[in-house]
Amino acid sequence: MEQQKERLAKEAVKYVEEGMVVGLGSGSTVNWTLEKLAEEISRGLKIKGVPSSKKTEAYARKLGIPLTDFSKVDQLDVAIDGANEVDENFNLIKGGGGSLFREKMVGLASKNLLIIIENKKNVAQLGLPVPVEVVPYGWRLTAAGIEKTGGKVRIRKHNDKCFITDNGNYILDCSFGNLNDPYRTNQSLKLLVGVVETGLFVNMASTVIVGKGEKVETMAK
Ligand code: A5P
Repeated sequence: MEQQKERLAKEAVKYVEEGMVVGLGSGSTVNWTLEKLAEEISRGLKIKGVPSSKKTEAYARKLGIPLTDFSKVDQLDVAIDGANEVDENFNLIKGGGGSLFREKMVGLASKNLLIIIENKKNVAQLGLPVPVEVVPYGWRLTAAGIEKTGGKVRIRKHNDKCFITDNGNYILDCSFGNLNDPYRTNQSLKLLVGVVETGLFVNMASTVIVGKGEKVETMAK
């Protein structure tokens, strides 16, 4: 599995060129990408990265990847990120690690959102629980609102306490079964008071690289 993530990372860094501003996603697959980018940087590649989580920021700093942020740049050339599920229209479920809000901001700001996944995450229809970041104040009311739209809600816990995102919020994992219309599900969640952002990335990814055994397959829109 780690070898496959390494192969995906190698393929992804081929999209990074001299002078680019690169969105750095989050998660174990992206960590491999950070390592490959650091290797290229040590060979002379000049780029700047915009991290999508505190974990990614810390790891990128450790590896010596130069960083910047949205106070200095408005647009990124490419963003490389993982996902929990990807459907045949390149819609994604993200947020398994809790970084969905910053990941969505980084993805939106990028000319090319490149997703790297193992084949088992490549599905016909999205169906995993959708992580939803909510403001802690009144979160039970927000959860009740989500249940009214048809979702079954579980608050995410870490060591018996509510998981806290990089933005100081909670995550509600919301099961809707198979999503026939991810766009509509996302829209109805976004209307609820207390919802900061959802892990449904609809119509955002432009390239998906899938690890299949010892090969990688690239699909582009
Ligand atoms: C982080 O919040 C997520 O969106 C990750 O990108 C996603 O969970 C994929 O992570 P892995 O590469 O660790 O599977």
